[in-house]
Amino acid sequence: MHRTWWKESIVYQIYPRSFYDSNGDGIGDLRGIIQKLDYLKDLGIDVVWLCPVYKSPNDDNGYDVSDYRDIMDEFGTLADWQDLLDGLHERGIKLIMDLVVNHTSDEHPWFVEARKSKGNPYRDYYIWRPGRDGKEPNNWASHFSGSAWQYDETTGEYYMHLFTKKQPDLNWENPKVRAEVYDLMRWWLDKGIDGFRMDVINMISKVPGFPDVPVRSSDRYQMDNRYFINGPRLLEFLDEMKREVLSKHDILTVGETPSVTPQIAIDFTNEETGALSMVFQFQHMDIDADPSAENSRFSIKPWSLLDLKRTMTGWQKDLENAGWNSIYLMNHDQPRAVSRFGDDREYRTESAKMLATFTLMLQGTPYIYQGEEIGMTNVAFETIEDYRDVETLNWYREQMNHGADAGDLLKVIHVKSRDNARTPLQWDDSPNAGFTGGTPWIKVNPNYTSINVRNALADPDSVFYFYKKLLQLRKQNPVAVYGTYDLILEGHEKIYAFTRTLEGDRWLVILNFTRDETVFTLPENISYARANLLVANFQVDSAEDIRSFSLRPYEARVYHLIGS
Ligand code: GLC
Ligand code: CA
Repeated sequence: MHRTWWKESIVYQIYPRSFYDSNGDGIGDLRGIIQKLDYLKDLGIDVVWLCPVYKSPNDDNGYDVSDYRDIMDEFGTLADWQDLLDGLHERGIKLIMDLVVNHTSDEHPWFVEARKSKGNPYRDYYIWRPGRDGKEPNNWASHFSGSAWQYDETTGEYYMHLFTKKQPDLNWENPKVRAEVYDLMRWWLDKGIDGFRMDVINMISKVPGFPDVPVRSSDRYQMDNRYFINGPRLLEFLDEMKREVLSKHDILTVGETPSVTPQIAIDFTNEETGALSMVFQFQHMDIDADPSAENSRFSIKPWSLLDLKRTMTGWQKDLENAGWNSIYLMNHDQPRAVSRFGDDREYRTESAKMLATFTLMLQGTPYIYQGEEIGMTNVAFETIEDYRDVETLNWYREQMNHGADAGDLLKVIHVKSRDNARTPLQWDDSPNAGFTGGTPWIKVNPNYTSINVRNALADPDSVFYFYKKLLQLRKQNPVAVYGTYDLILEGHEKIYAFTRTLEGDRWLVILNFTRDETVFTLPENISYARANLLVANFQVDSAEDIRSFSLRPYEARVYHLIGS
């Protein structure tokens, strides 16, 4: 396997609005990030992925771009951005930018022009269709509730928007659109950035003719990915992007690709034939969702460790020597990892460390989302008024219109809303968690008085220092990056254990994913002369025989197996 820096890197995701506010307006900003660079350096990460900071009316917090070559006012200026890039590079940290080009804002000049008349030169930058019997051109639902089409009075036609109606989809069939995208990518690369995270990049090619999707529910609009995900021209577009732009730079590219299968991920990430370094797959984000629900994003199903193992092992083995994985347990669109896969109360610290071990010990490039490194948890606001996320609010409104009970909806929101990840980073126990001197754009999680960066830095046993240790371990040992993954104890319902092997090096990772004590027994066929403990989240007696022993709640251990 080819060795490269982006396989060996650990990426830290920043959601700027919620990271740190430098000027007291309640909104995180670029100067705020600059003030915290030494914190990131101390943690030991290699790359920052910065969520969108471009000019935007913020219908979807920056994922609706109105100018790709400028910074939104709340976040600062291009000069601030340059200082951020320089500050990162001085510390040996790379920067990847979010590339949001499935759609623009409806306030982007291209769309402002496009909607003026059917003959406008920018008309074909977007996807327009006449109505059908006085209704939308087809029955597609938008990801954020309602139809995927919006009627536009001026010309009497509808435009497509897979997300909000302020996020019209670009028409990638138009070569001019593609040329514009390559141009703006070059513009940022020329400034010295180190790569891109590509927002919903596998939605850029739609099935021609936009047929109705099969009706599965009583809803007027139906969500069915097959008509706009992994579409017929997707690979062709990405190949072109590779030829025109990506192949000319040594960069990290990660595609956000919902509903991707391992086979398609290999098409994207194969070293010779693929266009991207890696993709974000979503299978493990679906193990607690009910696929038959009208909106599975807001459904709840207990997840099972066997499902998680099956999913992750599938990705580990299928991409082995064929592509490259990204590893994540959360991001700005997902609930907090410790609340979802661990225990955010009694065993918060232990389970956050266990999940850290899991993330850092799999094969693939690990991503840490801001606050994950101190074990931040989900939030449970008591009223919908405290929520800000457009997806959450639209869903709530739609369900209320259908006569749902507000309390029931809030229960689901507490578990699944994207705002769980978006409450401000908890820096200390001063008002508003030290995030802002003003009123935060979204309330802080009330548990900031105990869970915060200052406490983490003062406690040698904190989740933060555990991450730091794992990061160093991974960086110093190629087996942690390149080693082959092999699952053991496949049918165990509480323990997730696997080995990593590279040439003569063999590591054993043992994780108790439950709050129960449970016995670990090493399979007979694994032999060794000596087992050296590399890292653990409990005190471990180094003389203990690891052939069989009892694991404490959420216990995690990594051993180096030496000999035979
Ligand atoms: C991606 C982003 C999400 C955004 C959506 C539309 O899924 O991660 O935050 O709402 O795309 O751009
Ligand atoms: Ca600010």
